[in-house]
Amino acid sequence: MPSIAKRGGSPISPAPKSLPEALAGSDGDSTPQKRKLRSHASAVAAALREGGAVDPAAKRVSPRRCLNQSPNTPPKRIEKAVADKPSKLKKSPAKGLPDSLVADSKWNPRDPQQMSAAKEALHVSTLPPSVSCRENEQKMIVDFCKGCIEHGKAGSLYICGCPGTGKSLSMEKVKELLLHWTQEAGLQQPEVLALNCTSLSSTSEIFSKILSKYQLPKMTNNRTSALQQLQKLYSEKQQSRKMMLIIADELDYLITKDRAVLHDLFMLTTFPFSKCILVGIANAIDLADRFLPRLQSLNCKPTIVTFRAYSPVQIVRILHERLKVLPYPVFQPHALELCARKVAAASGDMRKALCICRGAIDMLEMELQESTRSTNLSMHDEEKGQQAVTTPEFSKLQEIDAVRIDHMVLALSRTFRSPVVDTIQILPQHQQIILCSAVKLFRGRQKDTTVGELYKSYLDVCKSTHIPAAGFLEFSSMCRVLNDQGLLKLGQSREDKLRRIALKVDEADITFALQGVRFFRNCLQ
Ligand SMILES: Nc1ncnc2c1ncn2[C@@H]1O[C@H](COP(=O)(O)OP(=O)(O)OP(=O)(O)O)[C@@H](O)[C@H]1O
Ligand SMILES: [Mg+2]
Repeated sequence: MPSIAKRGGSPISPAPKSLPEALAGSDGDSTPQKRKLRSHASAVAAALREGGAVDPAAKRVSPRRCLNQSPNTPPKRIEKAVADKPSKLKKSPAKGLPDSLVADSKWNPRDPQQMSAAKEALHVSTLPPSVSCRENEQKMIVDFCKGCIEHGKAGSLYICGCPGTGKSLSMEKVKELLLHWTQEAGLQQPEVLALNCTSLSSTSEIFSKILSKYQLPKMTNNRTSALQQLQKLYSEKQQSRKMMLIIADELDYLITKDRAVLHDLFMLTTFPFSKCILVGIANAIDLADRFLPRLQSLNCKPTIVTFRAYSPVQIVRILHERLKVLPYPVFQPHALELCARKVAAASGDMRKALCICRGAIDMLEMELQESTRSTNLSMHDEEKGQQAVTTPEFSKLQEIDAVRIDHMVLALSRTFRSPVVDTIQILPQHQQIILCSAVKLFRGRQKDTTVGELYKSYLDVCKSTHIPAAGFLEFSSMCRVLNDQGLLKLGQSREDKLRRIALKVDEADITFALQGVRFFRNCLQ
């Protein structure tokens, strides 16, 4: 890109490094390139155009897309095992809120306690006050388990869906609901074995784990004998035996070459006196079809419950639910909607949405720190009799009291980046000014203009920002460069000034790419 810029022969200095650029790469989020979106800026514009209303018909990602994204790699598994472990889930911050937080209905981001309460409410490991948007799925699972318990019959269920769609969280809730129901109905409570298969030292260890629940006198760690003991147990009639609810999360970890473990596990529910309710959870939608063909031929195929990717409306609702524990609004509504829209379009992963929202709070925190620093500098200058304290930074410092859409845009840019945005951000400054001038000019109905008209707009921007403007010849050669880069579309005319010129990229991409630089932000406001 810079080489093309040089081709234009412009003696223009490179663009200042913008905040999104500075942040790029600092994030550990491993979003695959293919999930890259059109741009954040487009979504900002769309959100604003539509008055912030979230489009429920926005594109969803089928859980099938997860087939290749099954989290099999050990590092992610370790991370997820920790995150998923219910015992490690922190309680929602609501109950632990200090009085100072509850008394105040306006968020003060300068208060470290309030800041950390907001971040905690959005932390993946914080148990949310409710599991919204998964009522239907939970009901299907609960009804299935209830049926098994009422009739004292074994059964198997397979829960699938993309990462971060609330499968593990919902199962926690289901467990609670079932125990409550059995208590209310005066039924015998089932024995519950909930395990994350990634925590097993070997795949066959699952059988000894199940066996250990029965507290039989002689136990062995040997897979065959543990499995055989279970098979024997479920072949014999014994009235007093309790139902056993086995929740096997990250079930795909049990897939072996010969598929024996997975197969034997599900077969346990087909023994005549089995009292096993097996609930397997994994990402792949067709795991049961692919790995359990014999079960199908035996007519014992598990019931399947699919967790679809969250829609923008659902993500917003979940975020609101989680933020409800705070007595003050932390985000401007548009900011949450933008996040929801972008995450839903990419994967519908709630983990990602939470991470981006926390990132947006970090952006606000950084802005505050920057403002405080500038204010301190101004005060220092004032002490030295150089300048008054009423700098724009000082008044801004007073204003910041919520996470705005621009903070969210920056946070999103850490996760999803558009190539157009990257291109614009590394352009020389005057080419960025040309794009900025075009955005200003095309803000009305006008879709194209002449090079001469655009030059006038460019001169205005340069004048208002006290930047020496390039002459017309240089300007038109920069327009050609931008045309070559696919950012502008230049028509034909004998006279340069009369050539028609239009934007070839979304105006929102330009706004997004440039808004990290204060000079452009002011100019585009
Ligand atoms: N409906 C919801 N309400 C509140 N928080 C949610 C909801 N769904 C997901 N989350 C948040 O997202 C995190 C991830 O959800 P969960 O662990 O249930 O995903 P998963 O579907 O099991 O993903 P994976 O396939 O990667 O294991 C949860 O810890 C929770 O913080
Ligand atoms: Mg999970």
